[in-house]
Amino acid sequence: MTCHLLIPAAGSGKRMGADRNKLLLPLLDKPILQWTLEAAIASKAIAWIGVMGQPHDYPEFQKIFNCLNTRKPIRLIQGGATRQASVFNGLKALPADSDRVLIHDGARCLATSELFDRCDLSLQTIQGFIAAIPVKDTIKVVDGDQIVDTPNRDHLWAAQTPQGFHVDLLKNAHLTAVELGWEVTDDAALLEKVGLAVQIVMGEETNLKVTTPQDLAIAEFILKQRKF
Ligand code: CTP
Ligand code: MG
Repeated sequence: MTCHLLIPAAGSGKRMGADRNKLLLPLLDKPILQWTLEAAIASKAIAWIGVMGQPHDYPEFQKIFNCLNTRKPIRLIQGGATRQASVFNGLKALPADSDRVLIHDGARCLATSELFDRCDLSLQTIQGFIAAIPVKDTIKVVDGDQIVDTPNRDHLWAAQTPQGFHVDLLKNAHLTAVELGWEVTDDAALLEKVGLAVQIVMGEETNLKVTTPQDLAIAEFILKQRKF
């Protein structure tokens, strides 16, 4: 059990349009972030969890932590202005002995503990991966309102989290990004930019990122199905 998990949870949830961080909104009987944490706690592979948050959310986060029935250490880490900055802060806060790290968005609250376990297993043989699923739609590349390309769908995958890496590699990639001013939307993109191989681990169809009120309704529907 040496896998560490970082959960970026320091956003504001603008697209949700609520009056607070979307991760604090209720989904069925508990906050979104609690669902994410419970799946991570149920994963045998994860030994330590760091949650990046904004200080004004700490009291609410702490309340959620207090509801969790676990002996796994859960640490609050100050988030940054972007997801990338939040992850960078998380990497700096990892215990010195950590060698493998998973990054999983707090907003992907439907990921299962089996997915975390499979991800950790992959990281024992590869240096970096992302969970992803094949896209079902035909994707168009558009410039203005003109289609310029229709890429072959066989090569298109939709990125999810968890994403996982050997800690040294990801730390170095983040340091390079700070030095060169790179801004990316996920951690795999940093490894790709420094020329390191990142593999795919099969994600989960239901592992959606709760972004809009519609996503919240879909998440509720999926969770209700799981109860039976
Ligand atoms: N996140 C973070 N630090 C930031 C911004 C985002 O840790 N400065 C986290 C979010 O809390 C979320 C994850 O990154 O768990 C994915 O981001 P997203 O779904 O975009 O969440 P928000 O940024 O909160 O939403 P929005 O973009 O609609 O404002
Ligand atoms: Mg965002």
